[in-house]
Amino acid sequence: MNLSVSARAAAAAAVACATLLTTGSIAGAAPTHPTVTAAPDIPVVNVKAHLAQLQSIATANGGNRAHGRAGYKASLDYVKAKLDAAGFTTTIQQFSSSGRTGYNLIADWPGGDTGHVVMTGAHLDSVTAGPGINDNGSGSAAILETALAVARAGHHPAKHLRFAWWGAEELGMVGSRYYVGRLTSTERSRISAYLNFDMIGSPNPGYFVYDDDPALEKTFKDYYAGLGIATEPETEGDGRSDHAPFKNAGVPVGGLFSGADYVKTAAQAAKWGGSAGQAFDRCYHSSCDTTANLNDTALDRNSDAIAYAVWTLSA
Ligand code: TRP
Ligand code: CA
Ligand code: ZN
Repeated sequence: MNLSVSARAAAAAAVACATLLTTGSIAGAAPTHPTVTAAPDIPVVNVKAHLAQLQSIATANGGNRAHGRAGYKASLDYVKAKLDAAGFTTTIQQFSSSGRTGYNLIADWPGGDTGHVVMTGAHLDSVTAGPGINDNGSGSAAILETALAVARAGHHPAKHLRFAWWGAEELGMVGSRYYVGRLTSTERSRISAYLNFDMIGSPNPGYFVYDDDPALEKTFKDYYAGLGIATEPETEGDGRSDHAPFKNAGVPVGGLFSGADYVKTAAQAAKWGGSAGQAFDRCYHSSCDTTANLNDTALDRNSDAIAYAVWTLSA
């Protein structure tokens, strides 16, 4: 990516700020004032490495990573270990659904104003039919790599950053509903944005931006406009993924989506490439949703867009 003038200025400010911090702060501790860096280019190879691990976990555990199965807990342990090593404060939230134990993983990046929280989430469970690599290893791996990029950059924005991996989305957004339902009204009002990523590497991709909140929608549209890529609004906000409980609780929501079982039209293929008359993801909820069921370009662009949004919205 080309650094804009303002991004370069921010990078320079980060250097100056880091210099100031070498005196009073313990390595790894949150600085006492914001350390703002420029949004990074997320290495798609790193995102794919996480996806390879999720695929191995599914393969070793009966072919899936579904709620209540060993593959789900192993997925959660993998993500948690990466975050812990990077300096996040992680919390496992346990719940029960359909007679099986489920888990959400919450990761807080120390520092920032906890009165203004930018929260980024993805569901980590698959259906029982398959390993769930596009749905939703893709969102899970991309937000994990974004969180790790925050740590690598020493990025300490003004707002507080929180990341979440939801359990049991495939049973009806059970984990995210559990989390939102247990927030006090004060905690809820402190979340300035919830960003959701569910299916962002579809093999025959579209570029859909959630239309629920104008400011959050604009952030993602600006990113794609900068790449010269057309987007379409994703309008199914009220029921299809983990942003719905947040939206219903009055939290501004946004996100990206590259398409599930709907068929790509000729007009969409003309602007995005790929195959008209075929599903965005023909392996949706199937055993073939493996590491072969990804479009690397879509995964890369959407991962970079996540980092751009997290950086822009938390400054
Ligand atoms: N949430 C769905 C799933 O996990 C996927 C999905 C379908 C979706 N349509 C959507 C996600 C629209 C976000 C927006 O199976
Ligand atoms: Ca990238
Ligand atoms: Zn699904």
